[in-house]
Amino acid sequence: MHHLVHVIVSLAIVHRHSVVLALPTPQIGDYGENSGPVGGVKPPMPTVTAASGSLRGDSSLLGGNAPLPDPGKSDPAVVPNPELVNGQEAGANLGLYLDFDSANPPQPIRGTEGSTDPGPRTFDYEKLNPDLFTPPGTDGGSVPSLMWPMGLSHNRPGTGTNSGWARQQNTDVLPAAKAMAGVDMRLAPNSYRELHWHTASEWALMLKGCTRVAAVDDEGRSFIDDVCAGDVWFFPAGVPHSIQAFGEGAEFLLVFDDGGFSEDGTFLVSEMFQRNPLEVLSKDLRADVSAFDDLPKGQLYIFNGTPAPEDVQQQNTTSSAGALTGNNSFTYHWSLQQPFTTPGGSVKILDPQTFPVAKMFSTALITIQPGAMREMHWHTTSDEWSFFLQGSGRITVYVAPAASRTFDYTAGGVGYVPAGSSHYIENTGDEDLIVLEVLQAPKFSDISVAQWLALTPKQVIKDHLHLPDSVIDALPKEKPIIVPGNKNLTALAGGGRAF
Ligand SMILES: *[C@@H]1O[C@H](CO)[C@@H](O)[C@H](O)[C@H]1NC(C)=O
Ligand SMILES: *[C@@H]1O[C@H](CO)[C@@H](O)[C@H](O)[C@H]1NC(C)=O
Ligand SMILES: *[C@@H]1O[C@H](CO)[C@@H](O)[C@H](O)[C@H]1NC(C)=O
Repeated sequence: MHHLVHVIVSLAIVHRHSVVLALPTPQIGDYGENSGPVGGVKPPMPTVTAASGSLRGDSSLLGGNAPLPDPGKSDPAVVPNPELVNGQEAGANLGLYLDFDSANPPQPIRGTEGSTDPGPRTFDYEKLNPDLFTPPGTDGGSVPSLMWPMGLSHNRPGTGTNSGWARQQNTDVLPAAKAMAGVDMRLAPNSYRELHWHTASEWALMLKGCTRVAAVDDEGRSFIDDVCAGDVWFFPAGVPHSIQAFGEGAEFLLVFDDGGFSEDGTFLVSEMFQRNPLEVLSKDLRADVSAFDDLPKGQLYIFNGTPAPEDVQQQNTTSSAGALTGNNSFTYHWSLQQPFTTPGGSVKILDPQTFPVAKMFSTALITIQPGAMREMHWHTTSDEWSFFLQGSGRITVYVAPAASRTFDYTAGGVGYVPAGSSHYIENTGDEDLIVLEVLQAPKFSDISVAQWLALTPKQVIKDHLHLPDSVIDALPKEKPIIVPGNKNLTALAGGGRAF
């Protein structure tokens, strides 16, 4: 409203004088960061008791009619004393990671590329996304967004009292992520995600706390188990399941094999019962109609429950078809798997080789030390959906034939890389980076760039890339998976090497 008042007052002046004087540029203000004056509105606003003036200017303001402006009186586009951070003066193609945390404000400059930014902005976005604000000189062409922070997702609260919430990433917010979608869900102590099913398959990683999960498959085989932080469950499409948190509550990450999946679009036991004739319910469940007097009104979604008995056997019921055990188990106690360690970090793989029910979910949990990098690679047939559990990192996605873009990620962020597109994950922070990679493939695998070059005839590599013999001879014949590096990401500004 203040905006409008200001405009009205300004235009009233224009109207009265009819000849347009060089007004003190009222529409463009002293805006820097998005705090205080924005878009030319500088509080305090004049007090007006009755509206006056007109909402629009007249034809005297059209170019050619209006007097030429006096640039000396315009809000200057000059940024005095721009502050550059370490590495910013280095050549743009070096593409050093720029830590803008200390810059007030950051400027989008790399070597001789870019220029200062005098305009409207919110510094926090630029500090979180330095490679979008100030791309490496090697980025080019058009690449759709491949990054979505869950912190920008709408959060849907559960029903009942502080029962939990869920927020999601799907093609509504990240249109390029066609093959997979993700949900971050919180259940308060003893809360449920209500009995439900969906047309996508669901793979889940427990992030915090413990839950009891239960399901029944189409052959009447039942399943129940308790899982805690670091463990995984999988429910095939259409299989109804329940999830209940234990006394300390839980948070978990769900990944679906459909980019358009919505947590708001699942089949719910509450709705199914409310949306069928009571006569049918009576016949189907062999019950008096009055048995359905207390059905819930509306969806339960996420809601408070009574504590589950500690002993899982009290809730373990089977038919003649038996329980889903062994290779049919819907859970994998991944927290108990020891990681494969390698210089620069560690890796745990969980794919159908050891967790067969999750037929197409091939996943890796990767820890990358400061300065280290998940090596340059691509996946042959599957897109990659990734989730950052800790720390910060960046990824450059090379897209055929001639485009690439670099994105920055922090804990709670989703990344996406289309099949065949080369990428790396570089730890850009000072703590371990932990990231989950999820593929839709029968086996977790990748093409390692370094190994590919090592196993290709030397002459072929030389003729293509003109690399020195010493580099080609030292290429690793085994996949490094992770490569260590200098913790100081700007150390090679003066030349040399990054490790
Ligand atoms: C549930 O009972 C079945 C046997 O009926 C058993 O195979 C299965 O391991 C039990 N589940 C748990 C979590 O103990
Ligand atoms: C379970 O599956 C794995 C790999 O799919 C297989 O090697 C193993 O023999 C199976 N175990 C049983 C008991 O069927
Ligand atoms: C990183 O290296 C640069 C260039 O040598 C140096 O100026 C900077 O102080 C170093 N940063 C840290 C944190 O050591």
